Amino acid sequence: MTIAVKQLHPLFAAEVTGIDLSRAIDREAQRAIADVMDRYAVAVLPGQRIDDALQVAFTGLYGPLETAPPVRGKHGTATTGLRIRHKEIFDVSNLDENGNILDIDDQRRAYQQGNQLWHTDSSFRQKSATWSLLHARVIPPDGGDTDFADTRAAYDALPDATKARLDGLVAEHSIWHSRAQLGGYAPTEEERKARPPAHHPVVRRHPGSGRNALYIASHASHIVGWPEDEGRALLRELLAFATEPQFVYSHRWRLGDLVIWDNRCTLHRATPFASATHVRDLRRTTVIDTRTEAMAN
Ligand SMILES: [Fe+2]
Repeated sequence: MTIAVKQLHPLFAAEVTGIDLSRAIDREAQRAIADVMDRYAVAVLPGQRIDDALQVAFTGLYGPLETAPPVRGKHGTATTGLRIRHKEIFDVSNLDENGNILDIDDQRRAYQQGNQLWHTDSSFRQKSATWSLLHARVIPPDGGDTDFADTRAAYDALPDATKARLDGLVAEHSIWHSRAQLGGYAPTEEERKARPPAHHPVVRRHPGSGRNALYIASHASHIVGWPEDEGRALLRELLAFATEPQFVYSHRWRLGDLVIWDNRCTLHRATPFASATHVRDLRRTTVIDTRTEAMAN
């Protein structure tokens, strides 16, 4: 099969065909995907027939994998390892451990709702993430799309005065900041301690392209050393600018799509769907950024 690349948006995102991940891929294909990612930051590989084990193995070609933290179930107990056995698979679905649609009042629903805010995966971790890979196993008839924004393009488009203002700024990121905004997920003290905030520069150089990128997200709560409301206002302003339509590619899922994005230079969010009546089952794996450590808190 010949590998072909088709750009999906004037600024970024590309579809890659001619790669079948149900078999072991050679070095050439592995390299080709990395090259597409460096340039386009989002890669769509359609029609992939893979299970959790194959997704984990493929992701592992690009670095160590994050493991999914337990999320409290309906009755307050953490549930993992039932429907999904691999600890490296993040359950991006509206299903419970038995495969039934989550009840309206289930805390896991509130937790997942945070994914509808613009964010970049794992910015709240000390070791943040390079790529996330999301595979579509069941998709709803309408909605449940994923929007992506290129924060390199957004940075490039900022006025010089703003770029100068951002130089050297550091933001604090916390999963609990984003989870408090939509859905109102209330963490336990134990959960808070297990996932403390992380500090990252607001502008970081994206290694694959050598371009500067805004590193902001709904997880970013304030600017370190600034009055909270002032920092929050700046982050809000940057997020609004970086997600203007000209920077956004919207992905309408097809069954079997594997979409890879670079968390270091993109933002993403899920769009709503009829989650009380339709199933959306996507599985995510995430590569740990071993090169970049958060700054000391
Ligand atoms: Fe995400």
